[in-house]
Amino acid sequence: MAEHIAIFDTTLRDGEQAPGYSMNLEEKLRFARQLEALGVDVIEAGFAIASPGDFASVQAIASAVRECTVASLSRALRKDIDCAWDAVKGAARPRIHTFIASSDLHLEYKLKMSRQQAYEQAVSMVRHARNLCDDIEFSPEDAARSDRDFLCRLVEGVIDAGARVINVPDTVGYSMPQEFGELISYLMHHVPNIDKAIISVHCHNDLGLAVANTLAGLKAGARQAECTVCGIGERAGNAAVEELVMAIRTRRDLYDFDYRLKTEELYKTSRLLSSITGVAIAPNKAVVGANAFAHESGIHQHGMMANAKTYEIMTPESIGLKKTTMVLGKHSGQHAFVKRMEDLGYSLSAEMTAKLFADFKNVADKKKEITDRDLVALMESGTHAAPKIYELDNFVVNSGNTMTATACVTLKRDGKKIQAVEMATGPVYACFKAVERIIKHSYVLEDYQLRAVTEHRDALGEVLVKISDNHGVYRGRGVSTDVIEASMQSLLAAVNRMIEVAERAHQEAESGDQSAGRKAKEWVPLSEEARSRDMKITGTVEGDVTKETLHAR
Ligand code: KIV
Ligand code: ZN
Repeated sequence: MAEHIAIFDTTLRDGEQAPGYSMNLEEKLRFARQLEALGVDVIEAGFAIASPGDFASVQAIASAVRECTVASLSRALRKDIDCAWDAVKGAARPRIHTFIASSDLHLEYKLKMSRQQAYEQAVSMVRHARNLCDDIEFSPEDAARSDRDFLCRLVEGVIDAGARVINVPDTVGYSMPQEFGELISYLMHHVPNIDKAIISVHCHNDLGLAVANTLAGLKAGARQAECTVCGIGERAGNAAVEELVMAIRTRRDLYDFDYRLKTEELYKTSRLLSSITGVAIAPNKAVVGANAFAHESGIHQHGMMANAKTYEIMTPESIGLKKTTMVLGKHSGQHAFVKRMEDLGYSLSAEMTAKLFADFKNVADKKKEITDRDLVALMESGTHAAPKIYELDNFVVNSGNTMTATACVTLKRDGKKIQAVEMATGPVYACFKAVERIIKHSYVLEDYQLRAVTEHRDALGEVLVKISDNHGVYRGRGVSTDVIEASMQSLLAAVNRMIEVAERAHQEAESGDQSAGRKAKEWVPLSEEARSRDMKITGTVEGDVTKETLHAR
């Protein structure tokens, strides 16, 4: 009989820690609701002690989500555990996920602790956590590089102290599939009380093996898999949920597992992530990339027409992608637009519908046929999702090959118009300088990409911008038939995300929050010198956990 495996989604914790993927509370909540619709078993909603913002989002998700277990990460420290519990205790099914490093490398250089000290701390903190909450997960960080016998002793100790789930992380993505499977078997055979806990696997993708290692772990006896949507996460990311579950669904002959997850929600979930964060999904991304079901070559198309199974091992419908023959254009109404967006996996709020339909009409006026790729680009531009602090009122550029480009940009903030004029070596540069002058906040332009969404002459231009300041890295996307307008939209989406974070830090500082205060004081406008070199995230150096220190895993 098929055995149940639990899907533990850590997009909002391990995934959100990755640069460029940060979300605000409202975005996290929206994403958590979609994870609930996707049918994951556990949502790791964040690291409650990391910041007041993280605490608030874990708490909000805990009270909004009813169908999944909601977990908060915490170090094996009393104050972390208490904070995690405060954040998740309102959940229908709360879980505290606590961890301590177990490899000699981490113990010696990071924690400066002996094995025995780590053992005692882990056991006493799991006992403490278990007094608060019934569902305790414990992770020996860097388990894959830990001494196996010490790992077994530690796992035995924390199970005795009350841990119900033992998560085995390959924190740095070092393991090979066979080796990782053997590690799980070793634990199954050498930890005497292992039957009192569920083994979970948490694999990073540094060598591109996260999903393979996760499958090996499940095959060896693990019954919980930790994943993220599109595999986002620290460095090269985590195991991608869509790849893992579709591998199991497609190869039932090898993996006889049962899961709650509704694969038909996978496409929609991946698009939601992309539209919230403004990070594009690579066209060749397995399962949910735009090319995952596209057949270009004549031979393939011929085979597909004869029998789709010739080149398709899973159907587009199985991930929630619906085929269409309908073409949208300037006469299409809102109903047809919304229907097509739903078929593409997007469910739009009334506000988003209004904004996107207006964008659609705008484009349809200039472009005869609107393809699915245009719609996806419009949706994923994410401009509708970014905070609306500064809005574009208008811009005028004057540019040519015998002159210095000039841009006159007018933005609106709280209904007030602010204008600036700048000159530069090109029109986009001049616009960006004008925006910087208006917002009075320096940033470094880390990346700028321009591409045509489709092949034709009237194609939409899509611009992706990445900027950074001392708080972090922010992305934006813009889509328009005019590439300068697309550039302005993408910059404003990124700028608004940046300003929101900076202003929140200042507000928290003023309202007396100590940790926010420290961050805000350390924030200084960037110098010219810093702006001209590639920006490194400086983060905040302090005793407490910050996103930067968490990036170590
Ligand atoms: O990769 C890792 O080790 C982690 C743990 C905290 C589970 O993310
Ligand atoms: Zn991790």
